[in-house]
Amino acid sequence: PPSTISNRTAFHFQAFKNWINDPNGPMYYNGVYHLFYQFNPKQPIWGNIIWAHSVSKDLINWKPLKPAIYPTGPFDINGCWSGSATILPGNKPAILYTGIDSDNRQVQNIAFPKNLSDPYLQDWVKPDYNPVISPDHGINSSAFRDPTTAWPGSDGRWRLVVGSRRDSQGMAILYSSEDFRTWRMEHNPLHVINGTGMWECPDFFPVSSKPFEGVDNSVHSNGLKHVFKVSLDVDRYEYYTIGTYDYARESYVPDGLSSDNNTGLRFDYGNFYASKTFYDGAKRRRILLGWSNESDSNQDDWAKGWAGIHTIPRALWLSKNGRQVVQWPVHEVKKLRHKHVAVYGKKLSPGDIFEIQGIQASQADVEVTFDASSSLENAEQFDPSWTNPQKLCSEKGEGTKGGVSFGLYVLATGDKRERTSVFFRIFKAKKRHVVLFCHDPTRSSFNSRLYKPIYGGFVDVEIQNHGKISLRSLIDHSVVESFAAGGKTCITSRVYPSFASGSNARLFAFNNGDGEVEISQLKAWEMRKPYINGI
Ligand code: FRU
Repeated sequence: PPSTISNRTAFHFQAFKNWINDPNGPMYYNGVYHLFYQFNPKQPIWGNIIWAHSVSKDLINWKPLKPAIYPTGPFDINGCWSGSATILPGNKPAILYTGIDSDNRQVQNIAFPKNLSDPYLQDWVKPDYNPVISPDHGINSSAFRDPTTAWPGSDGRWRLVVGSRRDSQGMAILYSSEDFRTWRMEHNPLHVINGTGMWECPDFFPVSSKPFEGVDNSVHSNGLKHVFKVSLDVDRYEYYTIGTYDYARESYVPDGLSSDNNTGLRFDYGNFYASKTFYDGAKRRRILLGWSNESDSNQDDWAKGWAGIHTIPRALWLSKNGRQVVQWPVHEVKKLRHKHVAVYGKKLSPGDIFEIQGIQASQADVEVTFDASSSLENAEQFDPSWTNPQKLCSEKGEGTKGGVSFGLYVLATGDKRERTSVFFRIFKAKKRHVVLFCHDPTRSSFNSRLYKPIYGGFVDVEIQNHGKISLRSLIDHSVVESFAAGGKTCITSRVYPSFASGSNARLFAFNNGDGEVEISQLKAWEMRKPYINGI
């Protein structure tokens, strides 16, 4: 098959070349969005990690700057790993990050902008008193990293957490400080779960249940819900819970049964890791950024010369019922929408595959609402023991006919031999229907060296009365980012079509079920290419 070099993404955040991983220290400061990220300046594989730096006015176009944080002293000589920004009173940003010190211990360091009047904050200085937090009190020095944005406690002292583990117990160790310089470990961690292993990139923040709205980390108010998220090194997925932050006791109490494991909630049920949120004071929203790793081989990454992208920035808020968060691509992404096609009231009979023609579908934004109301009686019976949606998507993959099953083939060839399936399956449970959402890349490429996991998540919607379900997919050459039911369940996949690339990529809607399904409405836009880091 042809090489996959042309599978480079167009409107997703990426580096000009070489390796990138976690988003670091995102912030909005004096009219500019700053994004730092884990970067290997030398190779398209992980290593030599520093903080690269880009700035933006719209979260879509990104101007590259010189690296912001790189090894300079014994406290970070072996690497500058992930961390967060906090805007201190007096409008002064500070960065806390993990340094790998001269003894290969993980320590937490601080850095400040050299010149606050530089609108891009290009130079960062690290005071000599670094590190500010060391792995004392028996902390495992190789499992102690990724400090969060700090927030003020009710006593006026700053708080932050650092991800860690004690044996297999994952934990978010809590620190406090009066002056942001001298930090003391609090007796109790903010949160701990047995058996979860190392907690990377913890994130902890308050959420609003007003759609698209966010809350600053410093807000205290009664009844305010918080989200606690970790990236689990053991399975490379992220899990979050919603709960209450008890300011007086300095502890976080998840609602209901905590499930920071494979039955838990996820921001994204696909290839999405080391995410971080920040509060955008200009638009009063909370924005989530995540890293989507390549799922091709190292050999392919060396050939491409680049590896790693970030997902499209998403606004994040608490769902109306308070049971989960909802995410939606920032509205700015719409300005990339260009030529579009629309379909209304198209009925799909069992087995139908309908092509959406008229746009270049390798770089597109698709919004569709399906109506499965006339087909719900065909739904298969749901077995309550099916608690793992990813497994269910694999057992009932895209080729499985029958029941209620419909969706899109994206990045497909005209003969559909190459395709990535983005689809729903609806089941009948005792009182309601269960909606499963899947990404199946099994047939996405002829390249045999790829990792092609099937991903899945349940969608917490009631559809029995109207049978309608919406889907949005951002398609960008080697990434498909999907949002089911207005952003209740999100899945990101990396795929590398051998033939369905560039102008050869097609888009179809399909119905694999036993009854009729209607496309109530579908709009698909070609996307323009923004300027991203010189590309
Ligand atoms: C997560 C992570 C962090 C660490 C960084 C190193 O992907 O492993 O825990 O700080 O990446 O690049």
